[in-house]
Amino acid sequence: MKNKHIIAGNWKMNKSNKEANSFIIEIQNRILDNGNTDVIFCPPFTSLITIVEALKNSQFYVGAQNVHYEIEGAYTGEISVNMLTSIGVEYVIVGHSERRHIFGESDDFINKKIVAVKDSKLIPIFCIGETLEQRNSGHTGKILNDQIEFGLKNIENIDPDNFIIAYEPVWAIGTGETASVLQVEEAHHKIKTYLKNLFGSNGEQVPILYGGSVNEKNAESLINTGGVNGFLIGGSSLKIDSFSEIINIVNNF
Ligand code: PGA
Repeated sequence: MKNKHIIAGNWKMNKSNKEANSFIIEIQNRILDNGNTDVIFCPPFTSLITIVEALKNSQFYVGAQNVHYEIEGAYTGEISVNMLTSIGVEYVIVGHSERRHIFGESDDFINKKIVAVKDSKLIPIFCIGETLEQRNSGHTGKILNDQIEFGLKNIENIDPDNFIIAYEPVWAIGTGETASVLQVEEAHHKIKTYLKNLFGSNGEQVPILYGGSVNEKNAESLINTGGVNGFLIGGSSLKIDSFSEIINIVNNF
């Protein structure tokens, strides 16, 4: 972790290349100092080059939303780690719940991606989180543990400066329903313990972001929550006013 906090904006399948470029120009006018916070923009693939170029010599970073684990070959529609690093992308989201639930990505498939990303210069933002059903049946801890254990299978060491976890309860994503401070604190504490069990003190130091309906109104209480090192933000990262305000709140914390 290069800074005290991290904010990643996951734009999902939103914004044309032109809209993406205007947003990035505007946000640089608004955020004059984010020295305390690493801010990462994750646009769709079609805007990656544009945004990398627009953010050259800036204090912001660029991430992709997905990657394949093979380096090249007959994988129609896929993008490899080398393709991302070759254009200057530095981060990549892996295991987002929309990839798991809409596109059927399993822990095993996600694990192959994490291994490929770890072998590259990219920094993974590895997403985990339980569904409402799993939470209500008391399985949150087991689900988080399994996602970590299977997602990080065959990985012997982890560098906390080059690895990010995002805890995103599925029921809080895009729903307007945020997990309570207590739920977030408990989950982050569990995740830290599982990481420590697997990777010792390096595991314990991996930054853990919270994601799920973060906005400018709840950002302050969430960043004040024990074990929260920043946010992975969907909806509010698309709105210039909201996203700038969240960056300022976190940066001044
Ligand atoms: P949301 O999305 O902020 O719109 O809930 C978060 C995410 O999917 O990463």
